[in-house]
Amino acid sequence: MTKTLSTFKHLECSLTGDMFPIDKPLRLSPSSEKPLLARYDLNKAAKTLTQENLYKRRNDMWRYQEILPILDDENIVSLGEGNTPFMKLNNLSKIFQIENFYVKDESNNPTGSFKARGLSAAISKAKEYGIKSIVMPSAGNAAGAMSAYAAKSNMEANVFMPKDAPLANKMECIAFGANVKLVDGFISDAGKASALEAEKRGLFDVSTLKEPYRVEGKKTMGLEIAEQMDWEVPDVIIYPTGGGTGIVGIWKAFQELEQIGLVSSKKPKMVVVQADGCSPLVDAYEKNEKFAKPFENPKTLAAGMRVPLAVGDFIIYDILKKSNGTAVRINDDEMLEGVSLLASEEGIFAAPEGGAILMASKRLRKEGFIKDSDKVVIVNTGSAYKYLDMMENKFWGD
Ligand SMILES: Cc1ncc(COP(=O)(O)O)c(C=O)c1O
Repeated sequence: MTKTLSTFKHLECSLTGDMFPIDKPLRLSPSSEKPLLARYDLNKAAKTLTQENLYKRRNDMWRYQEILPILDDENIVSLGEGNTPFMKLNNLSKIFQIENFYVKDESNNPTGSFKARGLSAAISKAKEYGIKSIVMPSAGNAAGAMSAYAAKSNMEANVFMPKDAPLANKMECIAFGANVKLVDGFISDAGKASALEAEKRGLFDVSTLKEPYRVEGKKTMGLEIAEQMDWEVPDVIIYPTGGGTGIVGIWKAFQELEQIGLVSSKKPKMVVVQADGCSPLVDAYEKNEKFAKPFENPKTLAAGMRVPLAVGDFIIYDILKKSNGTAVRINDDEMLEGVSLLASEEGIFAAPEGGAILMASKRLRKEGFIKDSDKVVIVNTGSAYKYLDMMENKFWGD
């Protein structure tokens, strides 16, 4: 057994601030049924999480072990997640007149999306707690990632997915050996079926933000953005938002890095992007409501953003307010235009979610939210190769 340098101390309720010990697996906060967040001894972390030490470390997301929750090295379940490209969008920066325009390209992760980070962290922690069987509802990419990490760690994976999830996601889950159940309905219906199965069979449910560790994995996107920018904080980060774990994680990264002393107290303006056909968080933000209303009949080809209600809605609302950010709706045609532009101008074949953030940045520049000298980062969360069946008509016609 080799101890990691983790300084993981306790879990904190995101609503009440109540603290909980980490000796046994917890999911939602016992005091509020809202998400729990991992808290670390950041003074201790600052002693070893330094620029000099980072040069010598492994090249994946586990290089930031002081502020990750795994205590024993042997429990890390890794497929090489993280260390994804951070690139200047040279051609699009001219077209959109955003001089400092960058992409963090998460399509390079195992299983083709940023979901690998969250599931690597969640399954590693589940392994540390001795959990053998897990369950999750998913719009698609998370299920693929969960199934891959479960295969690697010999865990039983159970997946509940909407029937019309992308074909690639259904196929990869089966290939990775998961028990796949297709549900007639949306991710919320898959969530109900998954919760029932969890109760019936005593499975550990790793639904997004309903267990505390996926967000820790996704936090490493923010850590990498900071490191790849040489510890400079960008002015704007634009993120395609469904369940919201990504945006919560990236914000948490900049908070922790500030306390550790690796970045200044400047914070990026965070931008939530959702689909016209499913925008509960944008609606809530525009109405100044901390808690979102479930979006009825969600419809968009961006399966990852087809989430009618996010458990962490109030956390995301606070992030938007605190960061002077904003929230944007993009329709499916615009997303596809964004996919085409990223491909033809920059050589990146992005998921529709990536197309959405690109078009959001175009709009925000036009409207003046993005200023002349702003350093703008868009996070392309996934690969178009996962959505070929959903996007086929765009490229071949009907
Ligand atoms: C490609 C893609 N982008 C974005 C999202 C939304 O991510 P989050 O749950 O972190 O908001 C998902 C979730 O399924 C996804 O698969």
